[in-house]
Amino acid sequence: MKIALTGIKPTGNLHIGNYFGAIKPALELSQRYTARYFIADYHALNTVKDPAELRRYVLEIAAGWLAAGLDPQRVVFYRQSSVPETFELATILMAFTAKGLMNRAHAYKAAAQANGEKGLDADAGVNMGLYTYPALMAADILLFDPDAVPVGRDQTQHVEMAADIAQALNFNYKKPLLKIPEAVVQESVAVVPGLDGRKMSKSYGNAIPLFAPEKQLRKLVMRVVTNSQGVGESKDPDASQLFALYKLFASEAEQAALASRYRAGGMGWGDAKEELFYAANRCLAPMRERFDALIADPAGLGEVLASGAERARAIAKETLRRLRDAIGITMNKE
Ligand code: TRP
Repeated sequence: MKIALTGIKPTGNLHIGNYFGAIKPALELSQRYTARYFIADYHALNTVKDPAELRRYVLEIAAGWLAAGLDPQRVVFYRQSSVPETFELATILMAFTAKGLMNRAHAYKAAAQANGEKGLDADAGVNMGLYTYPALMAADILLFDPDAVPVGRDQTQHVEMAADIAQALNFNYKKPLLKIPEAVVQESVAVVPGLDGRKMSKSYGNAIPLFAPEKQLRKLVMRVVTNSQGVGESKDPDASQLFALYKLFASEAEQAALASRYRAGGMGWGDAKEELFYAANRCLAPMRERFDALIADPAGLGEVLASGAERARAIAKETLRRLRDAIGITMNKE
């Protein structure tokens, strides 16, 4: 079976956009691939500098993915920081990573440009963690020989950089020491609209948390922006973000039935919201229950992650042994 690997940055609470855009497709992929999914806690350190916050985010991501259906028997699920081989590989890769490549990484370029627009020095507030982010990400990836790296569109450049770095290293030693990874972007994944109709994103403040308690979920659904059409008017489901959200949670038959009620007129936005809340809560309630149970048992989560880390390290050590040997770091070899 081919290998899929992805990293999840623990920098905030999971929302519905994360679930439909990343978690659900990655879990589907784990049925067809040997999957290695990890929590990228050292990537988060670049921005999360409060220890309690970092711990909380890591636990929430772990509980969230498990609640969403990740099977830790099937998927090697671990924290990046529990696999120190990552950091040794990152050091090796640095010697094959052109500085110019890092200059072109879009996260760094965006920061430099934002600084420029504010009349600041290009590197103001940029730490080396952010600058070398793609090299660490390359280590995350190349350590585990994945064929496929499922990521959002914004991360494809980083995966291409990992492939470039692997090629530079392989070329130097004239051996296929590292497998060349490929990004997999789920084209069919719908953009999940947020409360205001823009793409759901933590940074826009328009997100519906994945595990919001029922009351809060209801409140948020009632806040989804609609146009000002009255009850009697015929409404276009395809122009409504309320309906776009409904589609994520409802069966095809339910979608068709509600679409005709939209078109017929006689249904107000309040009713359309009730329908969305009903369908969303039906899907999310069991996950929320599992999440609440998991998050209440941090020691249990720790055990799941520790056993994942053990399996991950066995693979990582093998990669490192192969590389150390090939590059001449291992001594006493003829
Ligand atoms: N950079 C990714 C993000 O921000 C997270 C990540 C870290 C990752 N290492 C990875 C993704 C390795 C895929 C493979 O979402």
